[in-house]
Amino acid sequence: MLSDELTLLGIETSCDETAVAVVSNGEVVYSKTISQVDLHAAFGGVLPEAAARRHLEVLPYLLEGVEEPDLVAFTAGPGLLPALLAGASVATGLAKGWNVPLLGVNHVVAHLAAVTLEQRLSEPVLGLVVSGGHSSFYLIEDWRQPALIGWTYDDAAGEALDKVGRALGLSYPAGPVMDQLAWRVHERIPLPLPLKSEDSFNFSFSGLKTAVLRLINKAPREVLAASMMEAVADHILERSRRVLKAYPYKLIVGGGVSASSYLRHRLSQEFGDRVLFPSVGLSTDNAIMIAWYAKMLIDRGVRPSFCVTPDPDMETGYACE
Ligand code: KG4
Ligand code: ZN
Repeated sequence: MLSDELTLLGIETSCDETAVAVVSNGEVVYSKTISQVDLHAAFGGVLPEAAARRHLEVLPYLLEGVEEPDLVAFTAGPGLLPALLAGASVATGLAKGWNVPLLGVNHVVAHLAAVTLEQRLSEPVLGLVVSGGHSSFYLIEDWRQPALIGWTYDDAAGEALDKVGRALGLSYPAGPVMDQLAWRVHERIPLPLPLKSEDSFNFSFSGLKTAVLRLINKAPREVLAASMMEAVADHILERSRRVLKAYPYKLIVGGGVSASSYLRHRLSQEFGDRVLFPSVGLSTDNAIMIAWYAKMLIDRGVRPSFCVTPDPDMETGYACE
């Protein structure tokens, strides 16, 4: 059967969003996401065991009315192990019960794959995922096994924004508020550009975080927040410049931080149509991207299996190769 005729159920539980989506005949026919932000807000970060428990509580509700698909896709990694295990166990139970195949896919690559749902795009292409857990560049010559060519040495972009935001007393997650402040506040405190003299595609955000934390009480918090957002964008732009110089391809930018209108503006201003973004709704965690990436893998000859070992450090591709 052609994958365009398949109905694929996607389940996403890698972090603090529980999401279920159905892609049928190449179109999204169902998608629901429940955020756990309220559960973790008091801690300023995500508690893995609490996240897993909440995923197990809300998945039956999100799956209500979902009928037997041709394939169940789920996030096999990377992510928080208890949260991944919750999604994997529900996905396996459903696939076994319905007697349909199961495919565990990579969450980070799925963020990038989501762009092809909305825009025509052929390989080779570059990918950048900037989210709460990742800041990674990929060289995508084959969607089955994109090559990781850049990563963060410490914090992810969103993680650094959220940590600084917490110290500044902003609501969690702080990324969206800092994004708005970058537009509204015009004063800036200069911050160092990370890895300035390192010729690589890697990131480091923790130095920026420390620099801002040292300035708390020495400058208005809105100015510090706007300066941090700008410095994060500067670092992402500088690294993107290197990648786009090294490879003559387009760059897909996905992940929660790519929902930032400030970052999108800066990237588009400098690189024009060499950068592509998913719509804002598809930038943050969702299950459409999981079902869609599974469809792309099937299109490319990947055979689903029943292997369900989630991998918190999964680098690329799909489970059980
Ligand atoms: O991709 P995502 O939803 O979850 C992970 O896989 O991590 O990304 C969440 C991150 C958080 O750090 C959040 O602060 C950030 O994305 N974020 C934003 C915006 N929306 C979400 N950062 C800047 N501007 C936004 N509009
Ligand atoms: Zn994500």
